[in-house]
Amino acid sequence: MPENKSLNITIVGTGYVGLTTGVSLAYLGHKVTCVDTNPAVISKLKEKTPTIYEHGLEELLHDAYDNLKFSTSLKDYVNSSDVIFICVGTPTKDNGDADTSGVEAVAREIGKHLEEKGQSANSQSTADTRGPVVVNKSTVPVGTQERVKAVIERSLKERNTEATFYTASVPEFLREGVAILDTLYPDRIVIGTDYKEAEDTLETLYKPLIDQNFKEPEAVKRPENYPNPAFIKTDPRSAELIKYAANAFLPMKISFINEIANLAEKLGADIDQVAKGIGSDSRISASFLGAGVGWGGSCFGKDTRALLYMAGEYGEELGLIKQARKTNYAQRMLLIEKLREELNILRGKTIAILGLSFKPGTDDLRDSPALDIIDKLLELGAFVKVYDPKAMDNFKEEYPDMEVDYARCEYSVLDDAHALMLITDWPEFKELDFTEANEKMKEKIVIDGRNIYDKEELESKGFVYRGVGR
Ligand code: UGA
Repeated sequence: MPENKSLNITIVGTGYVGLTTGVSLAYLGHKVTCVDTNPAVISKLKEKTPTIYEHGLEELLHDAYDNLKFSTSLKDYVNSSDVIFICVGTPTKDNGDADTSGVEAVAREIGKHLEEKGQSANSQSTADTRGPVVVNKSTVPVGTQERVKAVIERSLKERNTEATFYTASVPEFLREGVAILDTLYPDRIVIGTDYKEAEDTLETLYKPLIDQNFKEPEAVKRPENYPNPAFIKTDPRSAELIKYAANAFLPMKISFINEIANLAEKLGADIDQVAKGIGSDSRISASFLGAGVGWGGSCFGKDTRALLYMAGEYGEELGLIKQARKTNYAQRMLLIEKLREELNILRGKTIAILGLSFKPGTDDLRDSPALDIIDKLLELGAFVKVYDPKAMDNFKEEYPDMEVDYARCEYSVLDDAHALMLITDWPEFKELDFTEANEKMKEKIVIDGRNIYDKEELESKGFVYRGVGR
């Protein structure tokens, strides 16, 4: 097996994608500089303190520290890089489109400082190419890679400078909470580029992952029977569309099972059994068939919206994806309907909410179903008490106008509650002792938005249990 070769990498943006990518590539033996315009973030990282919470990140940051640098200045690294990753945010514009101005600002900065290889004092790249590969990892509308290329070319032209560079799109598929696991042991690596040179450099870069010939970190072990990742080389437009298509298919699958769950409930069928029955068909697969309150997070909602916008520009409707979104946001309100069916009037009632984050393992509240549900409960005149093991500080900071009571633990939130609504399936919530809950609650109603509780057990303890599709 040929030896892995160490490359010089610059990562621009130290959010979930940037920091995870940077630290993981450094762990694999590359020399990585993480750049961010926020000096507070950079000084924390220099002190080996991760700025986001991800399982295994802190350990990896310590292990790989000798291969890592942190800086606020991209210009110092443009000419010494074999690969520059753009990992900045692409927030949603008012019209639903993705805002790529951050991506373009990075491209302009690269164009402003790039010199022909050998011409710059700090050009020490190690790849066998004549310039850096500028890789876009942010989720962007199809065609952005071409814009990045044009922006850099225009900057070079303005300076009357000739410098070689290559562009590529390498979409990111990591999930929050298991970002390191997904980065070190991915299902696939997709490289979209028109340049053979870029393809070769990126293949060298990802070689340790493709061959899985690195020592697994203690904190994030290689999953048992993990097959090496698929390595997909394609053109930039297809790579960009792969990302959007994946982030549309997965939520569509969840919305599908939620529609079937709603029907199952009316028919007296059990959605857990139905999901098992269809999920064991390898063509369908069992993952992402968990029925409940529906999906949230920073990606599915934003990316499906951006995809619909992009498709609209080309006269394509994408009706399935439109409906997946509609089903999803209606699903949140169905839980309120179930609560109203049990309590009739919500005005003056106390509702205990378990879970604020959009999924377990993160303090991220973006597009979390809990937000819409709490908002509606307050509008209907209920008192709301909340508990989340990680996301309460963010909630206090980001939603100061939502008047809720904060509980200390998953039991104190139940004091005098008329109903419990389970929104996020944190493992500790699964262990809730309903004999203790029984003594605390005023009325014994459980709305289980993630189908984590045993209906029969709860009913035997005198609770009214309402799940989704059960
Ligand atoms: C998602 C994708 O899974 C990643 O592949 C992608 O890289 C990422 O978006 C992104 O574009 O950055 P993430 O948003 O971190 O990752 O979270 P997921 O684990 O996919 O969960 C999304 C939502 O779906 C959560 O609210 C979760 O509770 C919900 N979900 C998931 C269900 O309701 N049912 C399921 O069966 C699975």
